[in-house]
Amino acid sequence: MLGGFLLLNIAPMPRAQDTEQEESTLQGAMGILKIGQRSLRSQIKDPAGNRDAILENLKSMQAAVLVALAETPPDLEEPLEGDAKALWHVRYKQKMAGLLQEILNMEAAALRTDGDALNEGYKALSGVKKTGHQDFR
Ligand code: HEM
Repeated sequence: MLGGFLLLNIAPMPRAQDTEQEESTLQGAMGILKIGQRSLRSQIKDPAGNRDAILENLKSMQAAVLVALAETPPDLEEPLEGDAKALWHVRYKQKMAGLLQEILNMEAAALRTDGDALNEGYKALSGVKKTGHQDFR
């Protein structure tokens, strides 16, 4: 009993870096999307002046979406099984494909230097993010 007590007290405390989870591939892709979305918000205020930066940004967001599309999100609190899980995964991929579509729409708008379409595209992108997180995060 006393031995156990002593052992507990001399055991090294876990350090933050030992307990922190490594970032998953999906989380890494989401991080790129976050930076991209934030940059877009200010970039699209000047579609002509920021044309190249917008196009470059949208390309990195496309690459991140393709990475995310190939991932499976972590299980929900009550994990699904069998066909229900397969269907949930299909819906995730459809939602992610929807995000890709919005990013491509924005790329077309940036090439036309169409500020109104870029604003609409940004709203649509934010909408897909919101519903994607409601359903899968
Ligand atoms: C522009 C669009 C989006 C942005 C900026 C975005 C941003 C983020 C951020 C910042 C995180 C937290 C990452 C972390 O914990 O390190 C996250 C997590 C997540 N997002 Fe998104 N997201 C977007 C769209 C979507 C869509 C469309 C879906 C689903 C189809 C989705 C599904 C998820 C999931 C499942 C997680 C949790 C990942 C995990 O903890 O393993 N996201 N997102």
